[in-house]
Parts: sequence; C-alpha cells; structure tokens
Amino acid sequence: MDFNDDLLKTLLHAKHIVVFTGAGMSAESGIATFRDAGTGLWEQYDPCVLASPQGYRADKALVWGWYEWRRMQVLRAEPNAGHLAVAELAKRVERLTLITQNVDDLHERSGNTDVVHLHGSLHSPRCFACARPYAFPDGIPNEPAGGRRLTPPHCQHCKGPIRPGVVWFGEMLSEAAWKQAEQAASQCDVFFSIGTSSLVWPAAQLPVTAAAKGATVIQINPGATALDSKAHFNLRGKAGEIMPALLDALPLAVS
Ligand code: OAD
Repeated sequence: MDFNDDLLKTLLHAKHIVVFTGAGMSAESGIATFRDAGTGLWEQYDPCVLASPQGYRADKALVWGWYEWRRMQVLRAEPNAGHLAVAELAKRVERLTLITQNVDDLHERSGNTDVVHLHGSLHSPRCFACARPYAFPDGIPNEPAGGRRLTPPHCQHCKGPIRPGVVWFGEMLSEAAWKQAEQAASQCDVFFSIGTSSLVWPAAQLPVTAAAKGATVIQINPGATALDSKAHFNLRGKAGEIMPALLDALPLAVS
C-alpha cells in the first residue's frame, strides 16, 4: 500500500495526534455499525424506541434486552488489527488522545488507556432514577436474542431501574468528555477520523475544529462520508488494513 509522502512526513513530525473512531473501527471485530447499507443497526431497529429516554420509559425490558444482547457480542469479540495499530501508534508518538464514539471496550483491550468515550459505554450502566453506577456480575450471561425482552436489574440504593450507560438521542454528552475532546481537537497537529459516517453531532464537529485550528485531518473509511471535503487525506479502505500498513510505512519515510 502506497501513502502520500507529505502525509508520512506530517505524521513523523506530529507531536500530538488525535485518533477519533466510530463504529467502522469495530466492524472487523464483528460488531455491527449503525448506518452501513444492509447491516447497520439503525436499518433494522428503531433508534426512537431503542436509543431514547422515552423509548426506555415505554418499554424497559425491550431496551435493556437489546443492549444486553449488544454487550454480549462485545464481550465475545476481540480487538482487530486496526485497534492494535492505534495502540501501537500511541507508543510511537509524544502524545496521542483517543476519542471514540464507540460504546465497546475494544480500544482498552488493545492497550490504549484514558480513552475518551463520547457516547458512553455498554459496560457502565447506571440507575435511571438516581444515576448511581451499577456493577454487572462477572462473566458472560446468557445472550438474549436481538430484541428479546429482559427485565433490567434494580438499583441497590433506591430500587430504581438500571439503564444502559450509553448516551441516547436527545441527551447531553458528558461535559468532562466533551471538554477533553474539544481541547484535544483544538491542540493536535494530526487528527485521524476512522470508521465514522460523520453524521452525528456534536461529535462530527471535532475534525472540523481540528482543521480550522490548523491540524492535518486524515480520514480512513471504505466509503464516502460527510467529512470528505474537509479532510486533507481520504484513505479509502478498512481500518484493519490501512492502519497497520500506515504504521509499516512510517519508518521507511525517515530519510
Ligand atoms: P455509522 O454506522 O454511522 O458509520 C460507520 C462508518 O464506518 C461508515 O462510514 C462506514 O463506511 C465505515 N466503515 C464500515 N466498515 C469499516 C471498516 N472496516 N473500517 C473503517 N470504516 C468502516 O457509525 P458512527 O459514525 O460511529 O450513537 O455513528 C455515530 C453514532 O451514531 C454512534 O456512536 C451511535 C449512533 O447512533 C450513539 O450510540 C449515541
């Protein structure tokens, strides 16, 4: 795989790299994306029902069962070559900030630490009433089939129903996570946008901020996205193929 010389030089001299990931990053681990034609979750399931506080209030067992089904898939999945390459890149640069829209833990399981989870995590549920965290029992429970109802557990403190720890449509992002993400986007010299359709806001603002502040924006995606016209480099292909190839190409660029 050949890469543009300017891109490799920019990467070699970068002091602070932001890697911003979306569902496409975990696709090669077998985790479905949201909007890919034919396989995207939002093609088969209604986000108003499954990703909103109103939907949860209307049918808690339906929503809890669906997120448990997704959590089980993640627990059984393994990081792919793209995740591992991002972890390797973090070792090679002075500073790397990893911001993800993904609610899985595959970046952490590849060795990245301090991952900024803009949209929360399947692994951090909390009480719908008092917001106290809830700890899952250890192990992988029986997998409810997609859409199978499962009554949520109750909060040990207030007996309220437990909800998934993901950010739903109409909800605010964590203020701390957003502040960290915005700051990194404003200060970095290279911004990677990997495996995201760049359609969901405010997350999609981050590469635009980075470009406006002078960072080089590199996008990795097999298809066209809303970011194409703003990215300095559009690398068309899968994260699990392009990221390892890019790492391999880096030492060769030193001359
Ligand atoms: P989308 O499903 O909108 O976009 C996934 C992107 O990944 C698409 O542009 C695909 O072309 C690309 N893709 C697919 N396979 C890939 C691969 N192997 N390597 C690289 N790219 C690949 O997912 P997101 O952009 O992450 O919100 O969606 C943003 C948010 O919308 C999600 O965080 C979720 C959803 O509603 C919440 O959960 C709050």
